[in-house]
Amino acid sequence: MKKEMNFSEATQLLYEGETLNGCSLKPESFPIFLTTAFTMGNLEDVQNTYDEKGYTYVRTRNPNRNALGKAISFMERGTHTLIFSSGMGAITTTYFSLLEPGDHFIANSNIYGETFDAINLLLQKYGVKVDYVDFGDLPAVQAAIRPETKMIYTEVVSNPTDRLADIGELAKLAHSCGALLMVDNTFTTPIAIKPIALGADIVINSLTKYINGHSDALAGSITVNDEEIYNKIHTIRMLTGTSGCPFSAWMVYRGIHTMDLRVRKQMKNAALLAKVLNDHPAVLHVNHPSLESHPQHVLAEKLFKDNESMTGMLSFEMPNDAKKINQFMDRLHLAHYAPTLGGIRTTLSHPLHSSHHHVPQEELKKMGISYGLMRISVGIEDGEDLIADFVQALEVFNG
Ligand SMILES: Cc1ncc(COP(=O)(O)O)c(C=O)c1O
Repeated sequence: MKKEMNFSEATQLLYEGETLNGCSLKPESFPIFLTTAFTMGNLEDVQNTYDEKGYTYVRTRNPNRNALGKAISFMERGTHTLIFSSGMGAITTTYFSLLEPGDHFIANSNIYGETFDAINLLLQKYGVKVDYVDFGDLPAVQAAIRPETKMIYTEVVSNPTDRLADIGELAKLAHSCGALLMVDNTFTTPIAIKPIALGADIVINSLTKYINGHSDALAGSITVNDEEIYNKIHTIRMLTGTSGCPFSAWMVYRGIHTMDLRVRKQMKNAALLAKVLNDHPAVLHVNHPSLESHPQHVLAEKLFKDNESMTGMLSFEMPNDAKKINQFMDRLHLAHYAPTLGGIRTTLSHPLHSSHHHVPQEELKKMGISYGLMRISVGIEDGEDLIADFVQALEVFNG
């Protein structure tokens, strides 16, 4: 008989997931179940399997998705997690599970470009009325609420300028009118913040990013703490076929076990790099919540444990000189351009060539996005190496 003990979250995460009941083999790592179906015995067994929500057909349930879902539920402090084919699959399936034509939906005006497109091209067409509000202005969110408001939607940290949303206050506003608060935790991860513990009803993570962490799998998750909401999303996931594939779920389950090590280092490196860039004469502006110059630094201190536990994402503005920006990119040894984020290697992205290419000039100005703005997804390299590389590359702006 083992003595009962309490372990830290990082330790417990390694032991969260499915157990292989009834299996005589005892694999140390959870195997992949590449099977489209599970066999059953007679009709009594068939009935029992369906009644107990056992494993039947891959689109409905699969052990790799379940194992990963349990680990994410543990990290997000939810009761149920569903695994999807992508972050976008998770977002759109949840919208169609919980919203109906005539409902009203309020979204933060600063959200991921394709979520914005999905709201405009799919949700509005389906008859949901949408308002975009700057969630930095809570009275404006309150003023946008209508009797038919059913969902409030935000990211914790926005792309690419790292603006923050006050999750606890937004949850109070949503619940004051019977609406649900849905939060995208992709940029922050459950290591930095646990939106459900702050009152959010639904948390989405693009697992393609930090949670998998190795830039080699596409997947998404939805975590909730209400069985009725879970059942609704489960049904629509089954009908739309947006369930995650077992192989990707297995990859992400492997990745999540090192998330604590990776993400803590990424967040620490980001805070270090943000400070160095902020003090650099060639840099016009840096966006990272750890900096005192960040307009919501006080909110950042309320939301996160400390400056090194906020996000691994930052952006910085160089002079608007295309030739020098290209030379700067050519000189970098480590950070390189890649249209993703959250991987173990530091990557760059240029918002005007990617997420914000369709945004009108006057809107870009309001958002603080210029040609010289570069987004950095900070990796797990040695922090001093990363800083030395950025500093030598910035020499192109000397003179
Ligand atoms: C904040 C955020 N949410 C959702 C998504 C969509 O995730 P996926 O690419 O896994 O569909 C992304 C993708 O970049 C993202 O940055």
